[in-house]
Amino acid sequence: MADPVRFQLNGESVVEAEARPTTTLLQWLRSRRLVGTKEGCAEGDCGACTVAILDPPDEGDEGVWRAVNSCLVLLPMVDGRQVVTVEGLAEGDTLHPAQAAMVRTLGSQCGYCTPGFVMSLFESCYRSDLDASWKRDDQLCGNLCRCTGYRPIRDALDAVAGSRPDDAFRAALGTPSPTRPAAYAARGQRLDAPTELSEAIALLQHPGARLVCGATDLGLEITQRHQHPTHLVSLERIPQLRGARIEEGTAILGAATPLTQLETWSATPLPILHRMLRYFGSRQIKHRATLGGNLCNASPIGDLAPVLLALDAHLVLEGPSGQRRVAVGDFFVGYRKTALQPGEILTDVRIPLPDPAARRGAYKVSRRRELDISAVSAAMRVELDAAGRVQLARLAYGGMAATPARALGTEAALQGQPWTAATVAAAAAHLERDFTPLSDHRGSAWFRTTVARNLLVGFEAETREHPVVALPDRHTGTVVLGQTP
Ligand SMILES: Cc1cc2nc3c(=O)[nH]c(=O)nc-3n(C[C@H](O)[C@H](O)[C@H](O)COP(=O)(O)OP(=O)(O)OC[C@H]3O[C@@H](n4cnc5c(N)ncnc54)[C@H](O)[C@@H]3O)c2cc1C
Ligand code: FES
Ligand code: FES
Repeated sequence: MADPVRFQLNGESVVEAEARPTTTLLQWLRSRRLVGTKEGCAEGDCGACTVAILDPPDEGDEGVWRAVNSCLVLLPMVDGRQVVTVEGLAEGDTLHPAQAAMVRTLGSQCGYCTPGFVMSLFESCYRSDLDASWKRDDQLCGNLCRCTGYRPIRDALDAVAGSRPDDAFRAALGTPSPTRPAAYAARGQRLDAPTELSEAIALLQHPGARLVCGATDLGLEITQRHQHPTHLVSLERIPQLRGARIEEGTAILGAATPLTQLETWSATPLPILHRMLRYFGSRQIKHRATLGGNLCNASPIGDLAPVLLALDAHLVLEGPSGQRRVAVGDFFVGYRKTALQPGEILTDVRIPLPDPAARRGAYKVSRRRELDISAVSAAMRVELDAAGRVQLARLAYGGMAATPARALGTEAALQGQPWTAATVAAAAAHLERDFTPLSDHRGSAWFRTTVARNLLVGFEAETREHPVVALPDRHTGTVVLGQTP
């Protein structure tokens, strides 16, 4: 059975039964003459297409407005939801506070980027956690402006962040979010969004069926490579695959949990995951991107795999023949290849909570601090015995090989050694034998090897006084060797 897509757009009910399931929300809006929402890049990089979607609560019973890139949201994914575009903000002649602030601070010149910024400001109005400078940077880092300069826009954000205007959008936060399954088909394509894992597994057995979750990766196949998969099975409505919790000393992270939710949750139990997520993509991307998608695309520069390798995580896979567990180190079997068998789904990730005394750190090295792809990423965990000698070392890197991988030779060289600058520097020389990285436009092999070594040496320096290289609560740049952020 296939149903039309039904959703609320700027407070009005919409029913759509004709558009292809791979039509993006942006394409659909613009085809309906809602052209306030702009297309800049169609790949999640510029934020011109930002709209707000009301999402189910992360915790408690209040929903959340999330600014998302409409160029990477497929139309059937908004079935049953509330969507707000820039056209829906003002009430008659009265601007929404997000719009009024941009006018007051002179935050717009040519105006092309402005609707996208306004929608990010809109989200900020209903957030109560924008209490630190870096969080406000994070709120805007997914929007690019080529002419105004960011200072006035940042002033507008400072004026409205957390203001929670008493309006219909705030009232909407209390409305229940849909949990119904969606099944939409048109023009020879379909997208199913079941609410049960067993149903997703059954649907995946159909010839040609492909999994999708946030579509921040798969969406690029559609918008950039113009491919149109005939049957997508979306995992994002399956409650069993969402959320994070701790059970008997193990963190259990649902594969379909959006990364912003994971970022907030991980601050205390898993600070190195939290730190890596701060530098991951943009807020719009993290609202849609999921842990499962990040692992299953098996990118050698996926940022979360090194963290999971450093923490000895296991992945739970489920398919028609049942459930199995795979160590994350065995999951990546080759360039962009995983141990997933046809018809299997990654359901959750299990991470034993590390010893609080263990030294831990995560690093991402890229050309820009925000919204950039890593040249090299790393996550490290080192446990010492009472005499200060290394009894466990996990040094995991992205960007150094065809898959995210541990530096096994370097780890072995550290084993039983005193954890000092001298022994670490000596062991770091093994990284050249552990990895033979490629040279590409993000960095030469020499650059990557040098960065990998410096990150390890810097990690020892940074963890001398405090075991965890946590997220700094102030504005910092890319990690500089020896500088504690
Ligand atoms: C602008 C931009 C910035 C980005 N920045 C970063 C970054 O900083 N760091 C980084 O690492 N990545 C980044 N990415 C890549 C991408 O956002 C992430 O990899 C994201 O986590 C993918 O999750 P998703 O749910 O959107 O995956 P989707 O696109 O939905 O799926 C990706 C692939 O995984 C499969 N899949 C998804 N979930 C499962 C599952 N549970 N079981 C089995 N297979 C599954 C799908 O079939 C598909 O092949 C960026 C992407 C964009 C567009
Ligand atoms: S059009 Fe650039 S992020 Fe969507
Ligand atoms: S005002 Fe011109 S791009 Fe921002």
